[in-house]
This record gives sequence, C-alpha cells and structure tokens, in this order.
Amino acid sequence: MTKVFRKELESLKPYVPGRPIEDVKREYGLKDVIKLASNENPLGYSKKVREKLMNSLDNLALYPDGNATELKEALSKKLDIAVDNILPSSGADEMIDLIAKTLISPGDEVITADITFPRYISTTKMMGGTPIIVPLKDYTYDLEGILNHISNKTKLIWICNPNNPTGTMVTEEELMDFFAKVPENVIIAYDEAYREYVTRDDYPKNSIEFVKKYPNIIILRTFSKAYGLAGLRVAYAVGDKEVIKNINKVRGPFNVNSLGQTAAITALEDDEFIEEVYNLNLEGKNYLYEEFRNMGLHFPPSETNHIYVNVEKDAQEVFVELQKRGVIIRPMSGNWIRVSIGTMEENRIFIEKLKEVLGK
Ligand SMILES: Cc1ncc(COP(=O)(O)O)c(C=O)c1O
Repeated sequence: MTKVFRKELESLKPYVPGRPIEDVKREYGLKDVIKLASNENPLGYSKKVREKLMNSLDNLALYPDGNATELKEALSKKLDIAVDNILPSSGADEMIDLIAKTLISPGDEVITADITFPRYISTTKMMGGTPIIVPLKDYTYDLEGILNHISNKTKLIWICNPNNPTGTMVTEEELMDFFAKVPENVIIAYDEAYREYVTRDDYPKNSIEFVKKYPNIIILRTFSKAYGLAGLRVAYAVGDKEVIKNINKVRGPFNVNSLGQTAAITALEDDEFIEEVYNLNLEGKNYLYEEFRNMGLHFPPSETNHIYVNVEKDAQEVFVELQKRGVIIRPMSGNWIRVSIGTMEENRIFIEKLKEVLGK
C-alpha cells in the first residue's frame, strides 16, 4: 500500500495545531480552561461584522462568488492597488499552499528560517522542493544569511515579518536593501500575518509599495489574527498581476466561503476594532514582559500577539503541567514556549499557573 503514495509525503508530518479547549477539559476533568496556544484574538471579532453575518445567513444554499469580486474591490480601495493585484484565499494557510503549487518543481530550492511558520517548509517538501534553512540571528530573520544562500536553483524565499513564533521583526530599511539584492527571477513571499500588532516605527507599514516596485514580491495578509476571524478562513495575497494570474490557476473554484467574504468586507471598515485589539495586546504584552522579567525568564521582545519565552525547563513538561491547571500554551523546542497574549484576566491566570509550575 505504501507504494501508492507520493514519495514527497514520506518526510511530512501532519500539522499539529494548538489543543482545543474541549479536549483538555475532557482529559483533565476541568471546568475552566483558557487557550493561549494559537495566537487567536481574545476580543473575538468586530460587532459590526457579527451584525452583518447575522443578516447574511439566508444564502448559504448558493455557492459563494468564486471570484470574490466585492472583497477584491473593497481591498483594492483600501490598499490603493488594482483588483488584478489581489487574490483572496481560505486563510493564509491556503495561500502558502497555492504559492508552493504555483512555483515549486522537484529540485527547486526554497529558502526560509529555522524557527518560523512551519508550513513554508512542509509545502516545499510536498512539491518535491528542497528547503534551505538559514538559522535566525538574535531570534530574527537573517537577511544577509539568506542572500548568501541564493543559488541558481533558488525559486522562492519565505520571510515572516514579524516572525511566528519569535515575535521579532526586520526593519523597512533592512528589507529594502535585501529586496534590491535578490535576483528578479526569485520570488519573495512576505508573510505579514501579525502586521497589525507591530509597535515599532521602523516596521514597513505600507508594504503594498513593495509590490509596486518589485514584481517578484508576494504579500500575504490574513483576517485570522487582529481581525479575529480565524474560524471563517479568509486571507489574501497582493502581488504582480502576472504572479496573481498564475496563482489563480491552481486555486479551487470557490475557495473563500460566502460568510468569510462578507465578514472580511465589513471587517475592513472597522478600524476602531483593530485599534482596540492593538491596545489590549500592548497592555497584555507589557504585563507579561514585567512578570517574565520578575521571574528572570529570557524572551526576545515581540512585535506580535505572542511571546517566545525560555522557561528554563523542558517545554513539553511545562505544557503538560500548565494543561493540568487549565492553561493551554504551545511548547516549542528545548525550553522554549510560545504564549499568545490574552485578555488581562487570561494573562494573569497564565502567570499564576506558570509560577506554580516553575516553582517561582
Ligand atoms: C505567520 C503565519 N502565517 C500564516 C498563518 C496562517 O493563518 P490563516 O489562519 O490565515 O491560515 C499563521 C497562523 O498562525 C501564521 O502564524
């Protein structure tokens, strides 16, 4: 039987998502469990979006607009770029997949970092490509190191900015210098899933300008994080028309569901909600920083809604002990965990339980 499966699948493992709350409640017989494991939005999503969705439930018997015309138009207006430069997807996850399917042939090299979003590497392997892994430097994407690894086999470079899980970022100046040095026939996929949480001024706030200057850059953005719509699966790419046209060839005909399209259009109009999300995240981040410092724990400063922290104890063990106490986080390798920033109450519960587990 094993012979029927593509050989590319042999080295692949299924993605392990954050553990669902109900699972943990069942396993440990707990009544209250909080999940700080998947960088979800503790404020939920915009009330305006909710209202709109409630009035959009009648048309579910019909297929969604396969072209996502109204969503593309709304994005085009908001981002000040032509509709032909935009392609919505079922989450950024799907876009990562589509980019791999569009570009990678067996033997092609794809460069990314060692500690970053794992789907860049698994989709490369899935297509028979070779991942070239350039270790982070100071927990941050090493753009210089990436440039040194470009060869005549390089097809694609993945940059996650700010990075998941380390929360670190590269600056606009560093990126502009990098883009200018990458050959034209190498595509740069630039994933900005956490862009709305960034506090630093030297972050490239208007990355759409990159696409206007460099046809080999594809920007990825999502409605799953700051917009709080992870359950509806909506994201989009912005890129050169030719690039978008080709990604569109491998896309499923109705990839973005109708509620997702409706929600995203309304969400784009609610800047107030995004501001609220940003402020709560910043408050939570500062609180967690202070508590980690008091405990003497090391962490790189984060520009996202999660913190990568060294708990000086095996992460898997800490993960299990926190679960027993009703808190789900994400264990990373060694002594590192990633914790999503929650509501202030969730953050306090997490710290209380972490202190217990670490004996601090
Ligand atoms: C960096 C990064 N890219 C993409 C994704 C996928 O997001 P989506 O929910 O839009 O599929 C995530 C989700 O955690 C992420 O952290």
